Formats: sequence, structure tokens, C-alpha cells
Amino acid sequence: MKILIVENAEIATEKAAKILKDVVANSPNPVLGLATGGTMLNVYKHLVKQYEQGGFSFSNTSTFNLDEYIGLKEQDPSSYRSYMNKNLFDYIDIKITNTHLPNGTSTDLYEEAISYEKKINELNGMDVLLLGLGKNGHIGFNEPSSSLGSYTRIKRLSQDTCKANKKYFTGNNKMPTHAITMGIQTILDARHCVLVATGTEKSSAVRDMIEGAIASRCPASALQLHRNATVIIDKKAASTLSYIDDYLYIHPDGDDVLLSH
Ligand code: GLP
Repeated sequence: MKILIVENAEIATEKAAKILKDVVANSPNPVLGLATGGTMLNVYKHLVKQYEQGGFSFSNTSTFNLDEYIGLKEQDPSSYRSYMNKNLFDYIDIKITNTHLPNGTSTDLYEEAISYEKKINELNGMDVLLLGLGKNGHIGFNEPSSSLGSYTRIKRLSQDTCKANKKYFTGNNKMPTHAITMGIQTILDARHCVLVATGTEKSSAVRDMIEGAIASRCPASALQLHRNATVIIDKKAASTLSYIDDYLYIHPDGDDVLLSH
């Protein structure tokens, strides 16, 4: 696990955007895995800015989002499809038909989960997968106790997650109780995982993920098994790490160059 600790959330999200940009700019048919949530808003803001500065195109890029709520139509303002359109896809030259999210209104959700996995595999897997971190250690909607060997499937949202995400549902818009999400094994199959977490409220999940045992009580701890996982955190999210000095020594200022000539 490459642990990059940076001064603040702005730098963390810019760094993550740059990793995505480099993949898009340098591969002939990039396949990105994408996440939602508050933290990612700034990642997408930076990515759009980098795109507007020119020099690369999303025209050959395909994307797969981690998850979608069950029961929300695509056009529902609280759906993750709406989130992705209004925070990223509407501003870049990606072909919308190349952007994929699980269909949370499918009449056969079990089949939907299987075909989502198939689509990822047909495109030869994800080059890079962006991840956020739930306060309870979830990645995607893999809640504590999720199987570490899981693939895309239906999950009931935990009470913690319902509490944390309620703010995105206002008025009569009730928050769904279930989601369809990539599994932990789906995530581990991505060639590079990039997790971004910022703020003190994430510090205990960050500690469990990096320094805790690999255990389903903290689904993100499964990233310890990944051969190419980068964790980008700000100083607040890193504040309870026991080996913070070592991580900063290895990657000063979150610099990910180990050897320079
Ligand atoms: C949702 C998403 C997760 C994301 C999490 C963190 O629950 N399903 O993929 O990691 O939000 O969100 P935030 O960045 O708002 O804390």
C-alpha cells in the first residue's frame, strides 16, 4: 500500500484527479472505475479543470461506477447516475454510452449484477479504480461484514451509512435501503486502486484500513491485499495512524517517487 499523506483535502483530491488524467492520457482504451460521495466532488472538479486545460480526451474512455441505489430512476436527482452526469460526464468529451452504472431499477437485479461484472470483464477490467471511504470503513457499498471475496451484488445499507447519506435526500425523496455494488473482489481485481479520504471524521476508518487486521469489519482493509493500491489522505484523516512518521518519511509531502535520478 502506498500511503501518501498531504497537507489538505484540496491537494489530496487534485493528486487523485492527476492519476486518473494520466491513465486517460496514456492508454489507448482506458477503463476507469469511479466513485461518488462528497469527497469525490473535488476530484471531479480538478479532473474537469485538467481536461479544460487541454492535451487529452476521454473519447476512448469507458467508466464503471462502484454502485447505485436500488429503486432510483436514472433521472432522479439523488441517483448516482445524476451525480456523475452533473459532476463529470456533462463537462468532458466522454461518450455517454461508454459510461456504466449498475441499473438500480432493473426488474431482475440478480441478473443485473452478473451482467455488470461481465461488462467489466469484456473490457478487460479496470485500469484504475477510484474509491472513497465510508466512516464505517465501507468501500463502494460494501458494508462491514461484507465478504472479502464478493462480486457485484445487492447489499442492504447499514444504519451508519443511512445516517451519513441521508443529507442527499430531501423533501419526499426517501433514501433507499438497498444498493447494488461492486464486490470487494471486483475492487481488488482493478489493476490500480486509488482511495481518497479526508477529514478527521475518516481518521478511525483510515487507521483500521491501513494498520488494522484484514477483516470484513473494515471492508477497506482488504486493500492491504492489493498489489497496487494508493491511499491519498490529508493530515486530518492521517491523524491517528501509529506509523505516520514513517509514511511521511517514505513519501515526503505525499510525493510518490521512491527513487529519483
Ligand atoms: C457513499 C459511496 C461510497 C463513498 C462514500 C463516502 O457511501 N457509496 O463509495 O466512498 O459515500 O462518501 P463521502 O466522501 O461523502 O464521505
